[in-house]
Amino acid sequence: MNETVESLYESSEYPAMSHPVAHPSAMAASALLSGLRTPALHNARVLEVGCSQGHHILPIARRWPDAQFTAIDYSSSAIAVAKRVASETNINNVEFIQADVRDWQVEAGRYDYVIAHGVLSWVDDVCKAALLRLCRDALSPQGVAMISYNVLPGWTARQSLAQMTRALKNTSLCQGSTMAALEFFDHALKNRIDPYGQYLRSIVIATTKKGPRAIEFDDLGPINDPCYFTQFIQWISQCGLRYLGESDMGLEHPDTLTPEMLEQTSMLHEDPLLQQQAMDFMTGRCFRTSLICHPDAEMRAPTVAEVMQLCVEQSLPIAISGETAADKISAALAPFDHGSVRVERLYQSIEGVDHKTFLSYLSQQVALASLRFTSHEFLPTADLPERPKLNPLNQLYLRDNRTVIDRLHKPCVVAAADAVILSQCDGSLSYEELLLRHEASTRKRIEALLKYMNARGMFEQD
Ligand SMILES: C[S@@+](CC[C@H](N)C(=O)[O-])C[C@H]1O[C@@H](n2cnc3c(N)ncnc32)[C@H](O)[C@@H]1O
Repeated sequence: MNETVESLYESSEYPAMSHPVAHPSAMAASALLSGLRTPALHNARVLEVGCSQGHHILPIARRWPDAQFTAIDYSSSAIAVAKRVASETNINNVEFIQADVRDWQVEAGRYDYVIAHGVLSWVDDVCKAALLRLCRDALSPQGVAMISYNVLPGWTARQSLAQMTRALKNTSLCQGSTMAALEFFDHALKNRIDPYGQYLRSIVIATTKKGPRAIEFDDLGPINDPCYFTQFIQWISQCGLRYLGESDMGLEHPDTLTPEMLEQTSMLHEDPLLQQQAMDFMTGRCFRTSLICHPDAEMRAPTVAEVMQLCVEQSLPIAISGETAADKISAALAPFDHGSVRVERLYQSIEGVDHKTFLSYLSQQVALASLRFTSHEFLPTADLPERPKLNPLNQLYLRDNRTVIDRLHKPCVVAAADAVILSQCDGSLSYEELLLRHEASTRKRIEALLKYMNARGMFEQD
């Protein structure tokens, strides 16, 4: 066991997050598009490896009370938090276990969904191999696992920046502050207009955005070991697993994609893995959320009818500029902002666009990261409930000063002033009473906050 990694997670709290791409609903939709039909989520068995304080798995378990969840982590302090939160919020379908990936004995073939987000690149080689074996042993015949990891060559410049930040941090100039070291580079690169200078600055900005706590675990973590996609494929094949596709089917840097690149890479279609590696190289991709399954799982291309039963949610606003088919589809998607809509329902709301154009437009927007496929529909909530009430899990997260999680499983960082207002949303006060508790000058802002939170599905409906 790597003592440094273990002591870091034992002594410091990893910044708790939920990850929409690591949601079984997103995994199921992407798996289907790659030809694998996974068991239905409502009564599935789900395993999360490296669950930390359970921030990712608890909202999912709460939403699917008939599914069974197991979550392991070797940090006893993180598991203690997870157990406390589950017990205080009466979430009884998750078993949290303090265990090391290397020696935990899993019941063979038990799990339909296995999630390992943020683990592979942050552990040593022995642990990497153990994680892959665990996925293989845990998966049910039609099950799917999602493993996220940092990829090369996208991470190369980030690794150099991490090394420089480490070195600079301990100088008298930065006095032990990681953020001061990053600021140093930001300042130095600010006026560079050459492509290399701008590229480096974009990396400094992206790293800074993660915030000081996440950087200590990620970029400056005791182990941060990105790999090439082809290397990952080699590892999983050696372990007896098959690559399916990505849970996040959107390009990480869509702006870097040109029609010429697409045309060039399409020439590599006979070797799809090399094609993907070439795309990683040309787009500077840094992160993958790869889906894997048993090599003998039953596979069959999805039918149009099955795709129509999937749902889409908007990740980025899509511009509408005219009357083309794309504009009509974008306009039809607009009312479902902050929700997800069944592809079939969306199609029925559009006139004069044929099936083929419609589906190819959706796929294009998914590849450009504007849309994401999921397998569950969450239609937008219409009116504010009479007595706004956050669910018990989010009430507790708010009290504990953690991110709250919306209906689409997206984390939502709440500013301190807003947290005060939201902490009063426990169902005991009506909307008007809530407003009257605050000064008249702030009521407009409160109204906007409550409307926004309602649109994100944060309130229980009456
Ligand atoms: C970077 S954090 C990721 C947490 C969470 N999955 C996420 O993505 O937000 C890695 C987690 O893996 C756990 N971990 C690392 N090595 C492990 C091992 N050998 N066995 C079990 N858990 C381990 C750590 O304790 C930590 O909670």
